[in-house]
Amino acid sequence: MKQQLEGGRRPFLEKGWGWIKLAAAAALCYPFFRFLSFQVPRKPRLEKVTQKLKVGDVYLAPEFALFLDKSKVWAVSRTCTHLGCRLNYSEENHLLICPCHQSKFTVDGKRIAGPAKRNLAQFPVEKMSGTSEQGYIVTL
Ligand code: FES
Repeated sequence: MKQQLEGGRRPFLEKGWGWIKLAAAAALCYPFFRFLSFQVPRKPRLEKVTQKLKVGDVYLAPEFALFLDKSKVWAVSRTCTHLGCRLNYSEENHLLICPCHQSKFTVDGKRIAGPAKRNLAQFPVEKMSGTSEQGYIVTL
């Protein structure tokens, strides 16, 4: 009877010891893998738009397009969400169109056609106030 218990306990203890060694190895490796995947968070970049804009105007910067409406101002990325080409603004269609594979986006950044699957990134816009300069600040 005693032999039977010991015979059943030994494999159990050996398996348990194996699991403990595996957990210890994982705990030791975790900081290393965490270090490898660490990314420094990108600082937000502020872009000033000092050009005078009227309602209905569009300002095209290399990285964003700024739109001015009666009630609001907004900025969307000009980087296509398919493969990263720079989008052009079509005044006649009032759309952002990719020259590479013809993805189309509304001025709000919503994808409406093409191989791109995601909408465009939107950037916060603030009106400059309290300074002698007039215009907008876009946070990229
Ligand atoms: S890169 Fe814009 S549609 Fe392919």
